Amino acid sequence: MIDIQDLNVTFSTGADLVHAVKNVSCRITAGESFGLVGESGSGKSTVLRALCGLATDWSGRVSIDGEALEPTARRSDSFYKTVQMVFQDPYGSLHPRHTVNRILSEPIAIQGLDKPGPRVEEALEQVGLGHGFRFRFPHQLSGGQRQRVAIARALILKPKILLLDEPTSALDVSVQAEVLNLLMRLREELSLTFVLVSHDLAVVSHICDRIAVMRNGEVVEEVTADELARGEPGQRYTRQLLVASRGYDREAIDQFEDFG
Ligand SMILES: Nc1ncnc2c1ncn2[C@@H]1O[C@H](COP(=O)(O)OP(=O)(O)O)[C@@H](O)[C@H]1O
Ligand SMILES: [Mg+2]
Repeated sequence: MIDIQDLNVTFSTGADLVHAVKNVSCRITAGESFGLVGESGSGKSTVLRALCGLATDWSGRVSIDGEALEPTARRSDSFYKTVQMVFQDPYGSLHPRHTVNRILSEPIAIQGLDKPGPRVEEALEQVGLGHGFRFRFPHQLSGGQRQRVAIARALILKPKILLLDEPTSALDVSVQAEVLNLLMRLREELSLTFVLVSHDLAVVSHICDRIAVMRNGEVVEEVTADELARGEPGQRYTRQLLVASRGYDREAIDQFEDFG
């Protein structure tokens, strides 16, 4: 479904050059849930942004659902029918003065499809928000409800792939679990392929079958959720992420190495 070979992404040029992603390769099959994990700044979001055309200085070979992608900014309309992205910040990604109805209708209007009503209702239902939420504004929703609206918007065109960038990182822990469970249910019901980015290994291992660990723009290790559950990632860096994701543990954190 997603084939990435030797992806390199840079920002700026000359003295300001940032080589944010270095020789990343991965192959994600249909229906799989693939995780990208790593500390902040390790290049996870940049991988997703390159796929979506939000980062354009890249080289390598990328194809999605059999179609090769060019490093241009604009993705075709058909791309957005296949691939949708969900971001971390549900405040920033929902227009504050638009109703939920308008937010969810917009992708349908852009695609030139008519009669958004039934699809909007269906999408709200899918994310566990009833009819009563349809004419609310984002400020009338909790953080978790806002993120559900963002997920509904991503689903509205019935994509095959969701790219999820820290989708629960802005939420309280209890709400995080609800949204993660929702995502797992939706993947199952709608046969979606996921790429989930998070700095939190607990979140990624909850949802993903296979996980690539990133550091300084490179994939340093690929592990399965089973290997993680048994606590046997090979790299010390990955083991440290595992400890970090268990929450604050003074003794463990005192032993942390600086991988910068
Ligand atoms: N628009 C940008 N311009 C310049 N540098 C950027 C830009 N976006 C990201 N970077 C840099 O690229 C690196 C990877 O960033 P990012 O992919 O956002 O990391 P992550 O998502 O893992 O936290 C970081 O060093 C970051 O500062
Ligand atoms: Mg990021």
